[in-house]
Amino acid sequence: MKDFLSLKDLTVDLWKQLLHASAEVKVRPSNFRQMLVGKSSVLLFEKSSLRTRLTFELGMKQLGGDAVYLDHQESRLGGRESLTDMARNLERWFDCIVARTFSHETAVKLAEHASVPVINGLSDAEHPCQALADVFTLQEKWGELQAKTLVFIGDGNNVCTSLIHAAALSGMSLVAVTPSSHQPHSKAAEDFQRLSTSATASYRWTDSLDGLQGADVVYTDTWVSMGQEEETRERVQVLQSYQVTPELMASTGRNSYFMHCLPAHRNQEVTDSVIDSPQSLVFEQAENRLHVQKALLLLLLAPQELGRYMLLEKFAGWKG
Ligand code: CP
Ligand code: NVA
Repeated sequence: MKDFLSLKDLTVDLWKQLLHASAEVKVRPSNFRQMLVGKSSVLLFEKSSLRTRLTFELGMKQLGGDAVYLDHQESRLGGRESLTDMARNLERWFDCIVARTFSHETAVKLAEHASVPVINGLSDAEHPCQALADVFTLQEKWGELQAKTLVFIGDGNNVCTSLIHAAALSGMSLVAVTPSSHQPHSKAAEDFQRLSTSATASYRWTDSLDGLQGADVVYTDTWVSMGQEEETRERVQVLQSYQVTPELMASTGRNSYFMHCLPAHRNQEVTDSVIDSPQSLVFEQAENRLHVQKALLLLLLAPQELGRYMLLEKFAGWKG
């Protein structure tokens, strides 16, 4: 695997390895402190970020490497010089490119032209690092995710798409509850089928709040993603009845967890009473961005060292 642009490109084996390595990195961070010495990443961001930027910067440093942030919020990538030329410069200095782009195509083009790995730190279409952290967070709670159901409610956006891929790779069922005007990508069902290896896992879309019944976890995200600010009024109107409230949480019939990738627009897509409740995992999700992305950086930049380490751990486990 050279790049990490979409969870669609992963195999179930690789997904499991990544989650396994994430657990190891989280529990024994000191064992990984030297693994990226001499390596550096550039973070190219066309949009704002708190979590993605800081966890990639800190992650590189905690692994012995370095990171440089290039703020591209004032001009789109490819504007001052071509994406090809940019990629061919960056690959000479850096070992990895983390890109947060408006168009998913921009990240794909960078990956095509750069010889070094490109990580999608969110595009208009997908947010794979987020979904990786989310599944990792749920695994910490439940261990096995097979037979669990995640309901994504609100706008069928980039986070929703990556969660659909992640659910398929993890053997979970996913129900997308959105207005018909804000459904997930039309290829979601097809992608789910292709990626899923579990006979019991399923994906479906509905515009009815009845879709909440039986949810083990309720996930929502902003109704207005970055770049959609002009549509705010219309979106808030259409999505109003999909707000996550204590009543909506109760309608699952279970003691469901609540998740949100953050930033949250409090009392818009979710009420304070839900996001601040004991069922809320939002800050655990945010913390785990750091651990899973460190594992991802190791997998892409030091696969042999990581592989050797994981193998030794396996043998140590058998012996113990
Ligand atoms: N969840 C997430 O990606 O947050 P940022 O936009 O702050 O990076
Ligand atoms: N869907 C949101 C996620 C932010 C992390 C956006 O694209 O703005």
